[in-house]
Amino acid sequence: MVRNWAGGRCSMSAMVWSLLGFLLFLHLYSLVSHNGGKGGENKFHSSHHPLIHELEEVEEEHIQIPSPRDKRSPRAAKRRPKRTTTLIDEFLDENSQLRHRFFPDIRSVIDPANDAGNNSLYYHPGRIWLDTEGNPIQAHGGGVLYDERSKTYYWYGEYKDGPTYHAHKKGAARVDIIGVGCYSSKDLWTWKNEGIVLAAEEANETHDLHKSNVLERPKVIYNHKTGKYVMWMHIDDANYTKAAVGIAISDSPAGPFDYLYSKRPHGFESRDMTIFKDDDGMAYLIYSSEDNSDLHVGPLTEDYLDVTHFMRRILVGQHREAPALFKHQGIYYMITSGCTGWAPNEALAHAAESVVGPWETMANPCTGGNKIFRLTTFFSQSTFIIPLTGFPGSFIFMADRWNHADLRDSRYVWLPMIVGGPANRPLDLNFGFPVWPRVSIYWHRKWRLPSIWRV
Ligand code: DGJ
Repeated sequence: MVRNWAGGRCSMSAMVWSLLGFLLFLHLYSLVSHNGGKGGENKFHSSHHPLIHELEEVEEEHIQIPSPRDKRSPRAAKRRPKRTTTLIDEFLDENSQLRHRFFPDIRSVIDPANDAGNNSLYYHPGRIWLDTEGNPIQAHGGGVLYDERSKTYYWYGEYKDGPTYHAHKKGAARVDIIGVGCYSSKDLWTWKNEGIVLAAEEANETHDLHKSNVLERPKVIYNHKTGKYVMWMHIDDANYTKAAVGIAISDSPAGPFDYLYSKRPHGFESRDMTIFKDDDGMAYLIYSSEDNSDLHVGPLTEDYLDVTHFMRRILVGQHREAPALFKHQGIYYMITSGCTGWAPNEALAHAAESVVGPWETMANPCTGGNKIFRLTTFFSQSTFIIPLTGFPGSFIFMADRWNHADLRDSRYVWLPMIVGGPANRPLDLNFGFPVWPRVSIYWHRKWRLPSIWRV
């Protein structure tokens, strides 16, 4: 009896030691493939075209913060020393001497209709970007649809060309709903204004699209089965208490779209949102819910006009918004922001083997600029990710640099994004096994797509 017990104890401890040894081996292996550089890098980079390396260059930003302008009385200043000014304070201060660094004026405009030659096809994140008629593009919080039938890109977004005001003292800065702007392009740089494809409702105050409400983050996908273009958007009242999604439909990518209805998906609040269409034609709604503490994800019905009953909570308690999804080599990725109103904050990249999760949080994908640029998503917020066809693992990261004092003058930050290279150390507890390749968004003051991609 005693011997048996001793023998049992022995084999138990042998098992425990072998398990520990095995775990240690796996951990060391993961560290080698994680930090070991070359091997891992080559593996993940092997699918990259050499020209993609151009997109991985970054520029540094050296910005001197001007000396503080302390407007307090000398007595008040003595009582409580002023908090140090940060670059984010400068960004949010409409009278900052650095304003032109974040919101360059009309003199540095990108004007594709007149910029042939050396400047042609260059993206300049943050500069005013004109359409082919010479007007600033109005497509904020937007997304891009590639229409296979017309071989054309369509960019949809919030048309915000109206005055910014506060509905009440504590309310967020807002612009009345004007509608959803739509622009078309063959090269992703020269954009023709297709007009407002879903317009605000002027008279009926009870209508979701009444100008006093909120319409944000419109996204469009094409349904092959019904032949319809379907738009989903965030619909709210001025205080963001309605927290719903709206759905509209059209026979043509250039609209007009007919507004169908709004609802709280699965019966829950829905604020920042996006939709994602998978390779198999299934589409999903991803939305910030439960006071923005979690994201919810669920498949759409076959006609894309509603959600099904299935819903999963993801990134629970992480307080993320502005979701933008993409897929690479069978893995789903998502970039999100934190929740700080119109102020910029740190982006995070997440990955999953299934759209409905579980999702794992990886790391901040921003590379270059300087530390503050990286911690503020280059002073912008994610909205959409465009895959670069023909270059697996290469994408354009689309973000909004919100100008909270004058929202119509918010800028676009488009940057190259690459999936590949050694994995980020995962933020979630996963036994230290880095399973996902790194997602990197590279800061460039000026960049363009590789020449062989251009059409
Ligand atoms: C952050 C969201 O991402 C934006 O779409 C907008 O809703 C602002 N908040 C409003 O403060």
